[in-house]
Amino acid sequence: MKKLDPCTIVIFGATGNLSRLKLMPALFRLDSEDRLPEGAKILAFGRRPWNKQQWLEEVAKMLAAKYKNGYDQAAFESFSEKLEYHEGDLTDAASYAGLHEKLCQSDVFPRNVLYYMSISPSEFGTVIEKLGEAKLLDEKHGWHRVVIEKPFGYDLLSAQTLQNSLTRHLSENQIYRIDHYLGKATVRNVLVFRFANLLLEPLWHRNYIDHVQITHSETLGIGGRAAYYDNSGALRDMLQSHLMQLLTLVAMEPPVGMDAESLRDEKVKALKSIRPIPQNAVHAHAFRAQYAAGHQGGKSVPGYLEEDGVAHESATETYAALKLYIDNWRWKGVPFYLRTGKRMAESSSQISIRFKHPPQQLFGSKMDSLKPNWILLGIQPHDCLTMEIQVKEHGTAMKTRVISLDATYHEEGDGPSDAYEDLILDVIKGDHSLFLRYDEVEWAWRVVDPILKVWSMERDFINTYPAGTWGPRGTYRLFDREDQFWRHSMSIEGSDVSSEAF
Ligand code: BG6
Repeated sequence: MKKLDPCTIVIFGATGNLSRLKLMPALFRLDSEDRLPEGAKILAFGRRPWNKQQWLEEVAKMLAAKYKNGYDQAAFESFSEKLEYHEGDLTDAASYAGLHEKLCQSDVFPRNVLYYMSISPSEFGTVIEKLGEAKLLDEKHGWHRVVIEKPFGYDLLSAQTLQNSLTRHLSENQIYRIDHYLGKATVRNVLVFRFANLLLEPLWHRNYIDHVQITHSETLGIGGRAAYYDNSGALRDMLQSHLMQLLTLVAMEPPVGMDAESLRDEKVKALKSIRPIPQNAVHAHAFRAQYAAGHQGGKSVPGYLEEDGVAHESATETYAALKLYIDNWRWKGVPFYLRTGKRMAESSSQISIRFKHPPQQLFGSKMDSLKPNWILLGIQPHDCLTMEIQVKEHGTAMKTRVISLDATYHEEGDGPSDAYEDLILDVIKGDHSLFLRYDEVEWAWRVVDPILKVWSMERDFINTYPAGTWGPRGTYRLFDREDQFWRHSMSIEGSDVSSEAF
């Protein structure tokens, strides 16, 4: 295996939520498994007047919160040697001059630098600007790469503005727009499943597929993220990014090769083929709602409006569902239903593909309801692949029942892998395949922009759903036909229309 370049990882927003929950634990794991490059350093850029010791104490707290059963102290000792702290203000030129001095005038820090923007999206432009002015982005001595978290922009226009401000200082090659969903094992497996097996390819088509569903549901509410979430909402937070990426992987044509550009060319083609939703058709294609107080895990939980930091009369959606059509030869006429919500009945992410009914019902009585085949790709909590097919029931009658062929491919002993670990290593390797090219982001915004516009004008009313349920009933109006319904679970019962029960 090629040796990784030594590098410095500079984290902006190192004390924020993402860094606590994902980045620092991911870097700790990479280090304890000896997967970080030799000589790597991790420099936190933060406002607080801390010294290295105080920062180490903070990181120890983050790891203790993540690993409730404790973590390896010896591994932490060795990790600590890589950690440094730089006090600075994101808007202050002097802080960047200090950073320049630190990074360029000492031999402690490797000259290849990965800047991780774990900050509020409104700050991306400013930080890049300041880094550029401080000559911290030119690649005279080593590579300089920037990881930009989602959401990239707030809508189409702001994404274009952000892109313009980035390209003043960076080439596309230096930019890694991260969508951590692309780092999840099962998500990557969608590509393998589709393009390493010939079996399904002829069926992956409008002739056989009735519709596709992509669901991400969470039992958690917004936690302490009101400041971000109340200005974002479910459509921007999950749908425009993670769910749209899943859609591209299901819908794209086979790429010429698995290199970054070939892959992303095909994803962009799929996004470009999505039928635009005119503003006057938004209600037929999109549904939004907000959680009200309810029960979860036997406890009462507050509604969205009662959460700390949420504006009193906020109409921000915590649930969003969309119906999209992809107008190309493969998918014309096949609806793709996407939905996401917080404070739902279960936490799960899954892609559910429903096949059409056989042309004739040869078994059972006319009264028996036909049970179509499904292919289910479970992303979390379990990564698995299930196919539902009909078999004959025991007994003399020619009656059928559904069984599920379950190909759980998680091997005993496979440790839980975190998307961020692999993605950070990809940046160090310079591999863009699992990162978004700008045109992908722009086309995804084009799809949701008309919906955002209409919803932003309708601030007086929003549907609600009780916390702990599968969301609002009204969402069923998106379905094209009565025999289509949300598939809530991987189990066969989840395929029953009666499971519409909320
Ligand atoms: C983030 C969203 O990008 O993804 C969060 O901002 C959401 O609101 C999270 O909870 C879901 O990611 P995961 O990996 O926990 O499914």
